[in-house]
This record gives sequence, C-alpha cells and structure tokens, in this order.
Amino acid sequence: MEAKAGRTIPEARTLAAAIGDDTRLVVVAVVRRAVAVRSDGEEDVLGWGKTHFWDYADGSAPSGHYLGGLSVRPDWRRHGIGTILTQARLDWIWRRASEAWYVVDASNLASIDLHRGWGFREVARAPSFHTTKFDGGEGALMRAPRPGTATY
Ligand SMILES: CC(C)(COP(=O)(O)OP(=O)(O)OC[C@H]1O[C@@H](n2cnc3c(N)ncnc32)[C@H](O)[C@@H]1OP(=O)(O)O)[C@@H](O)C(=O)NCCC(=O)NCCS
Repeated sequence: MEAKAGRTIPEARTLAAAIGDDTRLVVVAVVRRAVAVRSDGEEDVLGWGKTHFWDYADGSAPSGHYLGGLSVRPDWRRHGIGTILTQARLDWIWRRASEAWYVVDASNLASIDLHRGWGFREVARAPSFHTTKFDGGEGALMRAPRPGTATY
C-alpha cells in the first residue's frame, strides 16, 4: 500500500498492528485505474485512516475511541476523501461508543475544519496526549458526541 501511494509511511508497522486489532478500524481509499495489458486494473492508494482504542486515561484525555492517522495523498486533497474516511470510522465508533475523540496539532486548521462537520469541539490543550507528542507546538484534544446524544 505504501509503495503504491508513492511515499514512505513511517508508521507502517503501527498500521499493520492496527489492522490485526479487533478494537480498531483501518480504512483505505483506493482508485482503480485500467491498465491496457491487464483486465483487473491496478489500485492506487489515495488515503487512509485508523482508529485507536485507549483503555486508560492520560490527564485530560479519557479512555475511548480516537480517530488517528488520517492522511490523503497531496495530489488528491480537497476531493472529499478525508471526509469519506472519517465518516466510515465514525460510523464504526458510533456503533461502539457515544463519543469520539481525536488529537490534532492546534495549528492544523485543515484537520480542524474537516472534523468540525461532525461536531468536534476542543476540550483541552497539552504538549502531548497519550503517546502523541506535539514537538514545538501545542496539541488540541477534540471530542464529538454521537449524533442524537446529549452534548455537554
Ligand atoms: C487533513 C486532510 C486529511 C484532509 O483531507 P482531504 O481529502 O483533502 O479532505 P476533504 O476533501 O474531505 O475536505 C473536507 C473539508 O475539510 C476542510 N479542509 C480540508 N483541507 C483543508 C485545507 N487545506 N484548509 C482548510 N480547510 C480544509 C474543508 O472544510 C473541506 O471542505 P471543502 O473542500 O468543501 O472546503 C489532508 O489535508 C491531509 O492528509 N493532511 C496531512 C495529514 C493531516 O494533517 N492529517 C490530519 C491529522 S489530525
């Protein structure tokens, strides 16, 4: 998958572990292109995302299902792929929990804008949450309630 995406993914081992973990979901967006000499075509990976289940709290970051690892190939951004990958992961989380979480570099406005559509709001800031460190920056902890559940 990484080779077809045309770049090295530093967290490939982490991704492999996530795929084999029942408490997590990994989603991949592909496009199938026709190849003249083949009838089955070839798939290009355009983006991916995963979830992570933390079974313990870390400061203000509670246990629960977190979105993570969302990445869309630069030449395919602003085509709705990040939205589709996020909707699929949230549908999966909503079947298991009444709230979803994610952490983001507070300066990553593209990600914050993307997630706003599902009602994600900032609940805390810190230099790190669980194992995610925001070197030289500040991280934001974001929460969204399952649609139809009370907000607080
Ligand atoms: C963030 C990222 C995943 C968005 O993927 P994408 O496929 O381009 O997202 P979409 O096309 O579904 O965009 C949906 C909405 O998100 C917001 N958005 C996406 N990219 C944006 C940008 N660069 N600036 C501002 N808003 C942005 C917009 O509201 C957009 O709707 P619009 O295109 O109608 O204006 C992509 O830019 C990326 O891979 N960035 C690098 C990795 C990263 O930051 N991941 C998130 C870590 S928490």
